[in-house]
Amino acid sequence: MGAVLYPGSFDPITNGHLDIVRRARGIFDKVIIGVANNSEKQPLFTTDERLALLKEVCKGMDNVTVERFDGLLVDAMGKFGTTGVIRGLRAVSDFEYEFQMALMNRELNPKYETLFLMPSPEYSFVSSRMIKEIARCGGNISPFVPPIVNQAIERKLGRATA
Ligand code: PNS
Repeated sequence: MGAVLYPGSFDPITNGHLDIVRRARGIFDKVIIGVANNSEKQPLFTTDERLALLKEVCKGMDNVTVERFDGLLVDAMGKFGTTGVIRGLRAVSDFEYEFQMALMNRELNPKYETLFLMPSPEYSFVSSRMIKEIARCGGNISPFVPPIVNQAIERKLGRATA
């Protein structure tokens, strides 16, 4: 099925994102994870930190690469040589935003197609935003993120033990 781009903020990558990566790499020859260097948001992790975490977590996935992109997603697709984009759809609440984004991107570039993958139900309520909020409030995020992401968040919040 060629190559597909899986774009996002990944601030940080969660087990839900990983579930989508695993599904996508079972379908496509190559999955390019595109980390948006999105200046409009104020991420917890810098783009380089998000890239490094993704690379570490996806180490050993032979058909997965991790790249950053600046500017428009449709331009990144040209750069990476893909016409398809994967987005994860957790619940109906995701749909409106995703539908609007998919149609706008197709308007910007008619070659563009968005494909949606549903994560396993156990990840349907996991989001980077909630992970950060739970961590800031001292909750346990270990069921929702890979261990190195958990450690990175603890370090970021100044609570590193090692
Ligand atoms: O993980 P997110 O934050 O839901 O990902 C959103 C992302 C990065 C895919 C989206 O904001 C994006 O594509 N940004 C790049 C700029 C762009 O092309 N915006 C127009 C989208 S219609």
